[in-house]
Amino acid sequence: MKRGIGLPGGREAVKDEYYISNLGVHPSAQGLGIGSALLKFAEDLACDAKLSKCSLIVGSYNQNAFRLYQRLGYQVVETVRNENPSLGYYRMVKVL
Ligand SMILES: CC(C)(COP(=O)(O)OP(=O)(O)OC[C@H]1O[C@@H](n2cnc3c(N)ncnc32)[C@H](O)[C@@H]1OP(=O)(O)O)[C@@H](O)C(=O)NCCC(=O)NCCS
Repeated sequence: MKRGIGLPGGREAVKDEYYISNLGVHPSAQGLGIGSALLKFAEDLACDAKLSKCSLIVGSYNQNAFRLYQRLGYQVVETVRNENPSLGYYRMVKVL
């Protein structure tokens, strides 16, 4: 995968992970469980693909999303800090 903008940290995902990118729910439908259901759907696809981990990155400014991922079993495996706060992020992995 080639990105238009390089990330200040390392890789977004490693070989044995199913990488979840750009999760988003329309503001009018947030907080209704759709984001959680989409994550579950991605985790099922990962299992179908015989991968035992899901990974994602989340901006460190995005504490609501960060808490959701933690609650659903994702754990921080890398913290990338940057002098520009909007570029800092956590890489999180869930073992399925
Ligand atoms: C983060 C996001 C995908 C979660 O989807 P969702 O359908 O709102 O999530 P759910 O309804 O399954 O879960 C709600 C949880 O998400 C969190 N959350 C994040 N943003 C929220 C919002 N705007 N409104 C309500 N809950 C939000 C809350 O912590 C909530 O947890 P709680 O039930 O303990 O209060 C969605 O809020 C969103 O699209 N946000 C903007 C884009 C974004 O930040 N995407 C993540 C990029 S890594």
